[in-house]
Amino acid sequence: MSYQVLKGTHDVILDEAFSYSYIESLLAMFAETCGFKEFRVPVIEKSDLFTRAVGQGSDVVRKEMYTFLDKGNRSVTLRPEFTAGIIRSMVNAKLFAQQDFPIKGFYYGPVFRYERPQLGRYRQFNQFGVESVGSDSYFRDVEVILFGYHGLQFLGLNNVVLKVNSLGDEESRTNYRNALIEYFSKHIDEMCSDCKERLNVNPLRILDCKVEEDRKIIENAPKIDDYLSEASKKRFKAICDTLDFMEVKYEVDHSLVRGLDYYSETVFEYHYTSSTGNNYGAVGGGGHYSNLVKEIGGPALPGVGLSFGVERLFSILKDDNKLPEKPALDAYVMPVTKNDLTVRNVLTITDILRTHGFKVEVNLEGNSFSSMFKKAEKKNALLAVIIGDDEIDKDMVKVKDLLTREEVELSLGELIPFMEDYLSARAHKHEHDHECSCGHHHHHDHDCECGCDGDCDCDCENGEYECDGESCCCGHHHHEA
Ligand code: HAM
Repeated sequence: MSYQVLKGTHDVILDEAFSYSYIESLLAMFAETCGFKEFRVPVIEKSDLFTRAVGQGSDVVRKEMYTFLDKGNRSVTLRPEFTAGIIRSMVNAKLFAQQDFPIKGFYYGPVFRYERPQLGRYRQFNQFGVESVGSDSYFRDVEVILFGYHGLQFLGLNNVVLKVNSLGDEESRTNYRNALIEYFSKHIDEMCSDCKERLNVNPLRILDCKVEEDRKIIENAPKIDDYLSEASKKRFKAICDTLDFMEVKYEVDHSLVRGLDYYSETVFEYHYTSSTGNNYGAVGGGGHYSNLVKEIGGPALPGVGLSFGVERLFSILKDDNKLPEKPALDAYVMPVTKNDLTVRNVLTITDILRTHGFKVEVNLEGNSFSSMFKKAEKKNALLAVIIGDDEIDKDMVKVKDLLTREEVELSLGELIPFMEDYLSARAHKHEHDHECSCGHHHHHDHDCECGCDGDCDCDCENGEYECDGESCCCGHHHHEA
């Protein structure tokens, strides 16, 4: 019998797993830099947590949760998102008694939604996110938006479309909800069955409907900004003014309502179309919440957060060729022997290299010399360390540079210093290959002839440039190709 993954789930293995770790660790490092601390919360929670927090009216609670009875007859749910669990953990740990607000957490891991699988949409997928809880300063909303904006830039995604909107305070949302019910009631007979269901449960979600005939009706629906209270208008304007001040590009999108019920005031999403034209949907989204902490049993404190979809980030980075290459193996160790004692010595040398931090693989299958070389090349090893019975007798090793094919014979004591020197010289050369004297570019070998003082502020990507002898495409330098 052969087993396949369940529909909507997928394996992440080998190079792909390396890329996922790269995305998560880069975002985690940036989150730490911005003052967020890591939170790890259970994948499974009481169902009630999500029904209350995410909301009875949301699609997530109504149809997408993996809910079941455990052996003690308790209703439990695989988390469909992180925010509820993160806030619960803050409440349980009494973090709100500290008064040092906001409490800032980041998290990543799998989440589960029973959705119809399609491009960029899975039933088990991974999120990376942050929450900043306890401060009502609108600047904290901006801080979280900036975290997402720069986090994406660090991943190499510079052309992200940031969409922002305000759902207003409770008063604004009640007025808007009533206006939507009144408007859509007149058209609901012509609309899809989902919209019919949403009309009384959550009319805001109708604005998200993708059915073409419904879109025409939605276009003429009342707009949220006509229903915002003065306080909400002022808050949203202040946020937009701050983004303008910081020269962050964004679009105000009044149809942006988000899918989870806990939002109030600011909401936002990051969109990106990859170079191959694939649109995987929003790569991330979030917003401000006023009642969630209280709803989960904590004090009446607001918060703001966002989550990215790691699968979607991976897909666009892959399409755009922006995933990092896996670092090469420093060395492949080849025992050229039939003698177990020699292999034991080779394994000892390998072990010493590894505990000194070298990335080393060893052949322990007794393969032929030529097949070991093929394996070394296939694994992208930089060096081959060749050890036979003779070498062990003389406390020597042979080291071959797999690029230049040069070979040296070294005493065992010389091996580690040799490898250190070799790798650091290589890293140095690599740096020169990728860094312009101006300190801004990643170019191939070249000399900067313009005598620039390093003040270049070009942002051309990957340093790809065409030199016409006059100027670089970035418009700043005179380079030699
Ligand atoms: P969300 O918009 O439901 O927000 O999900 C965040 C991101 O997860 C989406 O932008 C998308 O990239 C990814 N995503 C959502 N559904 C799927 C799916 N079925 N397959 C693959 N990726 C998906 C939240 O979850 C909120 N908790 C965000 C938040 C944090 N708001 C405040 N704090």
